[in-house]
Amino acid sequence: MLTPSPARPLTIAIGSQKGGVSKTTTTVSLGACLADDNGASRRVLLIDLDPQANLTMALGVQPGSLRRMVGDALLDQSSLLAVSRESATANLDLVPANQGLLMLDKALLGRPGFEYRLKQQLSRPQAAQYDVVLCDCPPAFGTLTLNALTAADLLIIPVACEYFAARSLQQFMELIQLVKNNTNPQLRYRILITMFDKRNRISHVIHDQLRAKFGDAVFTTMISIDTKLRESPVVGQPITHYAPHSRGADDYRALAAELLHLVSEWKLNG
Ligand SMILES: Nc1ncnc2c1ncn2[C@@H]1O[C@H](COP(=O)(O)OP(=O)(O)O)[C@@H](O)[C@H]1O
Ligand SMILES: [Mg+2]
Repeated sequence: MLTPSPARPLTIAIGSQKGGVSKTTTTVSLGACLADDNGASRRVLLIDLDPQANLTMALGVQPGSLRRMVGDALLDQSSLLAVSRESATANLDLVPANQGLLMLDKALLGRPGFEYRLKQQLSRPQAAQYDVVLCDCPPAFGTLTLNALTAADLLIIPVACEYFAARSLQQFMELIQLVKNNTNPQLRYRILITMFDKRNRISHVIHDQLRAKFGDAVFTTMISIDTKLRESPVVGQPITHYAPHSRGADDYRALAAELLHLVSEWKLNG
């Protein structure tokens, strides 16, 4: 069992104020690995919170064709489950997004308790059919990311191996503290090193810096550069289907295993 309480699925936000660091790739790949895990029938819901709708497209859904999307649920015009749909991968469902989310950011701001909209939706009894919920955040710290961080048990921060990666993290750490002080004192976080290239010295420098600064808050698993991960969204399939024996698929399976182990330890320690 994964759920922190019987009524609520384990909720994970994948966030960073930087674009292009593997947030969406991690959401879809980790989600598929958790759903498709040697017969463990874990039900996984992916929620697209980015107006760019890359997660939606990565699962083969056209944002322009949607009648309803995640914004309708956040405005309470629909339930999250009414907006969700099955993907081609068993046990993996999607709450899609489209550009309409750009307006939502403004519409929500200033409404009392707007940070809790997603959390409220995930606290409804229907949501308990899912074991894990993964939220793909936009590369900004607006109302959508705030909703995800308020609902989350865990925040995964992907950090791509490039110059200044560690420095921009500092800013995000301050925002996490803000959320902990205000809307979600229980929030935990882990840093995920992505686009690791073992032949490139910079990758090792970034790795050592992050480990020195953040210690155990860095996942042991690192995600290597793999062009198969770049190709899979084009065909609208998770890496586990598009290239199940690729390096990228192996890395994300290792991440899923590390995550499940971590969560079971938290449960043991209360
Ligand atoms: N491990 C990886 N190896 C190679 N390409 C990757 C990897 N992770 C992500 N990419 C590619 O990098 C780009 C940015 O990734 P994406 O997941 O969309 O980032 P974000 O959601 O943070 O903006 C995409 O083209 C994606 O396919
Ligand atoms: Mg993205």
